[in-house]
Amino acid sequence: MSTDIEITVADGVQVLRFLRAGKKNAFTGAMYNAMSAALDAAESNEAIAVHVFIGSGGVFSAGNDINDFLRRAEASAEGGGADGIPAPSLDFIRRLPKVGKPMIAAVDGLAVGIGTTLLFHCDLVYATPSASLRTPFLDLGLVQEAGSSILAPERLGYPLAFELICLGEPFSAERALRAGLINAIVPAAELEATALTAARRLVAKPRQALISSRRLLRRGHAAIASVIDEEANSYKELMASAEAREAFTAFLEKRPPDFAKARKAR
Ligand code: COA
Repeated sequence: MSTDIEITVADGVQVLRFLRAGKKNAFTGAMYNAMSAALDAAESNEAIAVHVFIGSGGVFSAGNDINDFLRRAEASAEGGGADGIPAPSLDFIRRLPKVGKPMIAAVDGLAVGIGTTLLFHCDLVYATPSASLRTPFLDLGLVQEAGSSILAPERLGYPLAFELICLGEPFSAERALRAGLINAIVPAAELEATALTAARRLVAKPRQALISSRRLLRRGHAAIASVIDEEANSYKELMASAEAREAFTAFLEKRPPDFAKARKAR
């Protein structure tokens, strides 16, 4: 079990707390596996009615660990049969539209990549004034994931979805609230209590009716599983590109990427 994530259950609420603040809570394979196992186990566990995702150290999550992306990209370049999104991450993503119980996110600080696209799958999202949502997929030479090809335009409308996904524009808490991405902005000191209070209100509801109501609210989302596969196929192609490799390497070497040079060296 990863020590970078703490998963606890109390009073019907399963809390998944990211504890990798030194790396801005970037998700490792072990963290994804722990989240997948916890979401799976909860489906048949009467003691759990609701999930709450929360960060630590003033950060929600900096998204997928870029070291894992670089390893996949290098394996692809060497013809090693690597195939795009790392397996633990894709397994987790594939679960998201299948989760039956409500999910709540408590977002303080940065929510990058899957840190933002996870929010599209949550039923309630609370954020602090310092929250900043960003999906720099394109700048990494990649495409969006987790079904956000459908969920972002549905939630935000096309123009704002394009700004988020393709321009990589950060959305402040205020803008995210106006855009309908989050439910409320609350002071950092009240974030966890706000999320837990909402979770406990859901715990107190008739359980089967809650799960059915949520499923019905999401019934238009039948295409999400197949769009997740389409997104994963694009990852497969793009992960092998010189530009993606350059983007990952540049981030880890703390320098701006040189895409033109990477293309020429191809
Ligand atoms: N993968 C791996 N390591 C990451 C990471 C990620 N996604 N995000 C942050 N880190 C690491 C940094 O490499 C750094 O490690 P180091 O201290 O060993 O050098 C540490 O976390 C702190 O990050 P740093 O960049 O110094 O903090 P910052 O406050 O200046 O910037 C971010 C924070 C999140 C804006 C910046 O780290 C970032 O852009 N991260 C990448 C986000 C991303 O592209 N995610 C993938 C989306 S698909």
